[in-house]
Amino acid sequence: MEQENFGSKIGAILAAAGSAVGLGNIWRFPTETGNNGGAAFLLIYIGFMLLLGVPIMVSEFVIGRHSQTSVSQSFFKMSGGKKGWKLMGLIPVVAGFLVLSYYAVVAGWTLYYAFLAGIDGFAGKTPDEIGTAFQSFCADPINPLIWMAIILVINGLIVALGVQKGIERGAKIMMPLLFIFIIILVACSFTLPGAEAGLQFLFHPDFSKVTGQTLLNAMGQAFFSLSVGLCCLCTYATYFKKDVNLMQDGLQVATIDTLVAICAGLIIFPAVFSITGLAPSQGPSLVFVTLPNVFQQAFGSSIVAYIFSLCFYLLLVMAALTSSISMLEMIVAYFCQERHISRPVASIGATIVCLILGTFCSLSFGIWKDDTLFGMGFFDLFDFIVAKLIMPIGGMLICVFLGWIVDEKVLRAEITNMGTLRAPYYPVFRFIIRYLAPICILLIFISQF
Ligand code: ALA
Repeated sequence: MEQENFGSKIGAILAAAGSAVGLGNIWRFPTETGNNGGAAFLLIYIGFMLLLGVPIMVSEFVIGRHSQTSVSQSFFKMSGGKKGWKLMGLIPVVAGFLVLSYYAVVAGWTLYYAFLAGIDGFAGKTPDEIGTAFQSFCADPINPLIWMAIILVINGLIVALGVQKGIERGAKIMMPLLFIFIIILVACSFTLPGAEAGLQFLFHPDFSKVTGQTLLNAMGQAFFSLSVGLCCLCTYATYFKKDVNLMQDGLQVATIDTLVAICAGLIIFPAVFSITGLAPSQGPSLVFVTLPNVFQQAFGSSIVAYIFSLCFYLLLVMAALTSSISMLEMIVAYFCQERHISRPVASIGATIVCLILGTFCSLSFGIWKDDTLFGMGFFDLFDFIVAKLIMPIGGMLICVFLGWIVDEKVLRAEITNMGTLRAPYYPVFRFIIRYLAPICILLIFISQF
């Protein structure tokens, strides 16, 4: 089947940045920062981004652009036809189904909250009412499924439209809107009384709070946030043109991703600290329970509260969509290129499978709360398999594959664009993917158990 490319460099960067920027930045990052002591966590997280995240992301770009095919075929082709690597390449496809299924559940919540914000549904509600409403929404057997299905259908439609007309166009519309919403929200948050305490929390490191667990969490967050280890970025890189500077693109995507995460902190922490009695370490309910309370208490039932909450949840919806598109695209690319199924049929089929798996995840907050496997409900189990097992193992395998299995000439040629680019960083990059990254990931992976 003919291979489509991204039409422009900016389209390629926005699509890759869209894959990276997601719920991980706006929902997970503030939660992790809040739970791990603020600025010290931020610094360690940035360290992991640069040391491991960017090199692995660039490695994914190298594999994708060089092989120009789906993930499993990439590993097969670049290993010189070894069946074992082809099998390895199937792991990301399975992971894609799992991650999209539980990601779509939370994405559905964000869409419902955007709807609530649009109808001014938080106005006049007490903190207790807002908390209870979230609990009963998640536990409801039907309502969250409807919102999850809407997200998955939008996702499926965008991917079915193809690389340029769907994914690239979607990124070109949603990413600038996302940046505009961020600027509006940061500006609003800064005007709140007591906002300085939030800035202090985010930017004043207290290293006495750093433990081994902080390191693990920071690495996990860096991986999740950049979407590395899942091979979504491998798939996007198959659509990169040959003149794209992979290292430069990787750094640009990581910079956008980190800035969005910091801005999410700049939106959330000043707002949280401006209300006395609220702690930043609220866990996952920070965004769905704490923030609607903050909007109400900080701005009252005013138009500012309305605009702030609507912009915030729309921001979350778009961030979730641009990431989930890349997850579905990886699956669809596999079925199109390996099984020769047409793009629309592959999109519909994969969407239906994710709807079924997502239903299991969603119901694990309600009627199937007590049905556990290995002591976890479906949502937690999927999250565990993807974030704690597949992403680190995937990241490690990508490094080992490119650092040890693939011919070094291929790596050099891709990094230097066939010798047309100067790449003084090449030896450092190669050292990281051959030694540093696999060893660090292995140590951290072992210590988490
Ligand atoms: N990288 C994606 C996110 O941050 C998965 O949500």
